[in-house]
Amino acid sequence: MSHSPNYTDRPWLDPDAEPFIKVQSVSKHFGDFTAVDSIDLDIYKGELFCLLGGSGCGKTTLLRMLAGFETPSSGSILIDGVNMNDVPPYERPVNMMFQSYALFPHMTVEKNVGYGLRRDGVAKDEIEQRVEEMLAMVELTQFRKRKPHQLSGGQKQRVALARALIKQPKMLLLDEPLAALDKRLRVQTQYELMNIQDKLGVTFVVVTHDQEEAMTLSTRIAVMDVGRLQQIGTPTEIYEFPSSRLVANFIGNANMFQGRITENGTDHVVVECKDPSCNFYIDHGVSIAEGTKVWVSLRPEKIRVSKQAPDDPNTNCTRGMVNDIGYLGGTSTYRVLVGDEHIVEVTSPNLNRPKDGNPPIDWDEEVFLSWEPSSTVVLTK
Ligand SMILES: Nc1ncnc2c1ncn2[C@@H]1O[C@H](COP(=O)(O)OP(=O)(O)O)[C@@H](O)[C@H]1O
Ligand SMILES: [Mg+2]
Repeated sequence: MSHSPNYTDRPWLDPDAEPFIKVQSVSKHFGDFTAVDSIDLDIYKGELFCLLGGSGCGKTTLLRMLAGFETPSSGSILIDGVNMNDVPPYERPVNMMFQSYALFPHMTVEKNVGYGLRRDGVAKDEIEQRVEEMLAMVELTQFRKRKPHQLSGGQKQRVALARALIKQPKMLLLDEPLAALDKRLRVQTQYELMNIQDKLGVTFVVVTHDQEEAMTLSTRIAVMDVGRLQQIGTPTEIYEFPSSRLVANFIGNANMFQGRITENGTDHVVVECKDPSCNFYIDHGVSIAEGTKVWVSLRPEKIRVSKQAPDDPNTNCTRGMVNDIGYLGGTSTYRVLVGDEHIVEVTSPNLNRPKDGNPPIDWDEEVFLSWEPSSTVVLTK
């Protein structure tokens, strides 16, 4: 990657870039219930942006406001510089793919895909040609004469995608586009979705409750909780630099230790935890006063588990007893009891085949847990 400023893939870092979508202090109330609570959000052209959060946190409502199916109670939405407050859905440069796909059951695949163009009165020849192109892109050419009930979940999903993309919207809104697919197909379809988005350069805004899906697909993720935005960032930022315990716990697994800052240097901090009793030496400064109550978040894959004490006496280390082992083939998850009741989760790649078939570390074994001083995140909320 180039070291000179090159923002092509990361327009949000470019101070001169104009966001394609600007969501400005948008709220949505249903009666006295607040579904979306003063959200500010910028999305740039060509992004594959994910709204991620648990069920009921307001993702669909926000997406429907972008599409124009709901009106914000307050705040405004700008698309391509134009305030959308009084612009009806069909006049917005966006298209929405619904969670249920909403295919027309009585129409064949090709009729479903060509529907929007027919309604717009596009010439027959052009419709045929564009339908053919879309079907080729989503690899459904051979199924063109089938009706939706003769298709698998993944095929239906691709019909819905083709139907939404054929009108060449500048932006496509997708509500849980892969939720109906089984795990393997979902993963495969994720990559197809990314390829298609890359090929067409359309801005995608995807709603999902599946954090792995968001991590795989996105340029950036907005984590939502009860109507509010918790954090916006690239998948790496969200995972490695969560801004709160809520985000750390929502994205992947995190071991949380509660303690106090007992030493606060410019290039390091020490956090002392009582339960389990354990000190964290962290190799970067934080702008948090000494004595403040904090949490230290440590991801399971950042911890080494070993039977011998680590060689480096300065490494962060604690001891525990193996309580549980989840053998997943490629990795093993160890649940290690540290102190009287604190379980620390560790994930380790199984690098070597055990010679005798016995696991390298067994149940009830005493182990050392160690980690790099850079591996921890200090959180205040
Ligand atoms: N039309 C509506 N009337 C009343 N409450 C609604 C309406 N639409 C959504 N809600 C409520 O708003 C909250 C957010 O809903 P939604 O945006 O669909 O969540 P998500 O898509 O994140 O699961 C939910 O509690 C839901 O019950
Ligand atoms: Mg929803």
